[in-house]
Amino acid sequence: MQRGILLFLCILALGRTAVIYKRCQVTRALNDKLLYDKRLTYLGDYFPKDYKMIVRYEEVLRCQNITSLINQGITVEELRYLWGIVNEDILIKIKEVLPDRHPSFGYITELLKIFKELLLDTITHQTEIIQDIMERLRKPDDTGPRKSVRPKALLDNCFRVLYALYEEECNLCNPSSRLMAL
Ligand SMILES: *[C@@H]1O[C@H](CO)[C@@H](O)[C@H](O)[C@H]1NC(C)=O
Repeated sequence: MQRGILLFLCILALGRTAVIYKRCQVTRALNDKLLYDKRLTYLGDYFPKDYKMIVRYEEVLRCQNITSLINQGITVEELRYLWGIVNEDILIKIKEVLPDRHPSFGYITELLKIFKELLLDTITHQTEIIQDIMERLRKPDDTGPRKSVRPKALLDNCFRVLYALYEEECNLCNPSSRLMAL
């Protein structure tokens, strides 16, 4: 009997480890894809100078937002979900403005695929604050206040928040921040 329980707990723990392992594999792939050089090339150099996209205020999700939401009692799990949804939206928008043969098309498509995978195993339960933000995000495109932002700035935010949400659990490593620390 005792042994049965122990075995059960063991399997449970292994299952959890496997989930974290999988999640970290995906976030590491994302981290590699989002390193500074790639962001600069695919979202800066390959776009017309001063090109900006019109997005909702909620789509500009910075570390400051994350800090303030944590202070309001929002869990990291929920923030990961919000961040995933926001960035999936952004990537879809960027993809929509790109012709198929644009040099960034493949890059954006791959990022989108990674986000889809990541969102598969994030939670769906949301507190009211997150539900409100989601609602504003889902409103039709022509309602509510807008902002114009460079595509690179959007993915810079995406990268920084990735660190805020996964660095510890997944041991992410950012070569440029390591250089700065030296
Ligand atoms: C993040 O903060 C900005 C500025 O304070 C705000 O406009 C935006 O709605 C916030 N985003 C989210 C998702 O809360």
